[in-house]
Order: sequence, then structure tokens, then C-alpha cells
Amino acid sequence: MYYYSLGQMPHKRHTQFRRPDGGLYAEELFSTEGFSNDYTLMYHCHPPTQIIKTEAQYSVAPEVAEEKMLKHRCFEGFQITPVNDYLLSRIPVLVNNDCHIVLAAPGESMTDYFYKNADADEMIFVHEGSGVLKTIYGELSFSYGDYLVIPRGTIYQVEFSGTHNRLFIVESFSPIHFPKRYMSRYGQLLEHSPFCERDLRPPGNLVTFDEKGDFLIRVKKKGTMYGLHYGHHPFDLVGWDGCCYPYAFSIHDFEPITGRVHQPPPVHQTFEANNFVVCSFVPRLYDYHPEAIPAPYNHSNIDSDEVLYYVDGDFMSRKNVTRGMITLHPAGIPHGPHPGAVEKSIGKKETGELAVMVDTFHPLMLTKQALQIENPDYVMSWAE
Ligand SMILES: [Fe+2]
Repeated sequence: MYYYSLGQMPHKRHTQFRRPDGGLYAEELFSTEGFSNDYTLMYHCHPPTQIIKTEAQYSVAPEVAEEKMLKHRCFEGFQITPVNDYLLSRIPVLVNNDCHIVLAAPGESMTDYFYKNADADEMIFVHEGSGVLKTIYGELSFSYGDYLVIPRGTIYQVEFSGTHNRLFIVESFSPIHFPKRYMSRYGQLLEHSPFCERDLRPPGNLVTFDEKGDFLIRVKKKGTMYGLHYGHHPFDLVGWDGCCYPYAFSIHDFEPITGRVHQPPPVHQTFEANNFVVCSFVPRLYDYHPEAIPAPYNHSNIDSDEVLYYVDGDFMSRKNVTRGMITLHPAGIPHGPHPGAVEKSIGKKETGELAVMVDTFHPLMLTKQALQIENPDYVMSWAE
């Protein structure tokens, strides 16, 4: 992300910066990859270190039910049970050492605790619902189609406008970036990128909560949830600046790249991290060569598992697609359009499909909860 600042800060970093009462604000360097990558400097009303109580930890590690497999799978994402509490609502379905793919249908805003994921960046795709992501850096309002990208270590709360919310979440154990080929040498999104800085929404409305009390931050680290109580409100910044902060990007602002013949999946790429990528399939015009076949070719993804999360619209290459469905086409065997879909696609001018794809370069494992929402007939759905 580019340099950004909100609120007040001293002219020179690491120098005296005083509150109206003469006391010093507490500076915090929030650094990534040790001290070797992007960072942010924050100015707190109170030191961010004042723990007053700790709670017993508990495991939130995903329960893997199938570690190894080789067949096409399909899960009805909207069949996961809605749960009022935001953290309890998060159900991991597909996991490996690089990322966890999580579904959530939370019913309530977070009011009595804050949350911090200490070892994963989070990418939250908002399928249904709207509200405000409240963070230590300020607020981000969100609605249908937004990606919220939250760097690890960000303290946040989610306030939903209603009770009906559907989220598709990727927890990434390495930083989530934009594709390298779209970035200039010094970090600007290049002209051929399907989106640019103007499409990214940084936090706004930095409200300083200078409050004493008992504030619980639930911190997730290595599959374990810890409860840390602090003596001051965590959102006590008067200002911050730097390149490490959460932002929002709407899938509706992704400008599709199209061509005369079928374009390869990387044209849809939106994010990348270590050993996986995230792509956005958005409404677009089909290939315009007079003999073009709009349906995708059969495809042997020999070294990446392909996860497609179906959001909205009509999916011409598949039958029986439902909203919130997840398909997993594992590395090692080819997949392609369902019978009849290729002929049917010829002559079609455009698609209204909306989907998010996650391609992982190492196999995903299935959790217990994934098996509960599986459509077991999917593997046979190509047989004529
Ligand atoms: Fe594919």
C-alpha cells in the first residue's frame, strides 16, 4: 500500500509529541517482516502495553477431516449455520499451511471485545451485509462486493447494519499484496493493472477514544485464542502514518481484461501472497473473435488447487450453481466445462458472473465442517 496518514503527529518521527496536558503521547512503530518491510508509526494517548488481566487460552485450530484426496468437490457455502458472535461464526472449510479459507454468517456486531489476528492477514469478501469495520487506524464502511484487506496485527471490531451477513474470508500466513507485475519499481499500480489507487479506500474518520477501563482484545495466534484485557481503549490514536493499514476494494471496481480469444485466468488476478493468489471474475464482454469459444477450455492444473466461490450471476460453464457455493478442483486432474456448456456458450456476448477464486500452490485439506455442507454428487457431474 501507498503512504497515507490520518490525524496529528509530530513534524519529526521519534521526537517529543505532547498532549494538551503536557504529557507525552506514546509512539508505537508497527513494523512488518522484522524491521525490513512496510511500517506505520502510531501515536497513542496511552502506551499500548498496559495489560491488566489475561484469560485462559483455548484452541480454535481447524479440525482436518481429510488430509489427502483427489476428486472434484463442491460445498454449499450458504448451508453453514449463522452464529450471532463474529468470531464463533467463522468456520474454516479448506486449509493448508499458507492460508485458511473460512465462511462466516455472523448475526451481531462485535461490541464487548476487540479482535486481532496475530499471524494472518485477513481478506474478508462481503457477499451479503454491510456495516463499518472499526479499526485502530480509523473506520472503513463496507457493503456487498467489498474486499476488506486487514494486515495481521490490526485491532478491529465489525459493526453490521443488519443481522443477515455472509462473508468469505481468506486468512493468509504471509502478507497479501497486489500482483507484482502490476506494480512499478517504487510501488505504484501500473497503467495495465485492472484497478488503481483511486479504487482503494483507506481508513477514515479517526476517532480518538481516550478512555480508561477494561478492554478485552481476543488475539488469535497459532490456532489458539487468547484473551488480553487492557487498561485503556485500544482505539486511542491521535494520528498515524505509513504504508501498513487496512483498506477496502470493491470487486465492482475491478476492470476486466478481455480479448478476441479466451484470456487465461491470471487476467482476473487481484491479490497474491506466498503460495496462493486471489482472482475476481466480474461481469464482462466475451471473446470477440468470430470463431471464439467463450467457455473456458478444459484445464489441467497440475500444481495448483483451484477454489471458486460463486457470488452472483449466471455461470455458463457449470450446472446447478448456487450462491455461496464453493468448488474445489484439486491439482493433479483436469477440469472443464460441464457437458453441453461449450456449444451453448458460442455466440454469447457477455456474462454477468461474479466469483472469487483462490488458487493455492499446495494442496488444501478439508475440515469436518466442510464435509457437513458437501454435495457428494459433484465429482460425477461431468459424466454424460
Ligand atoms: Fe480452472
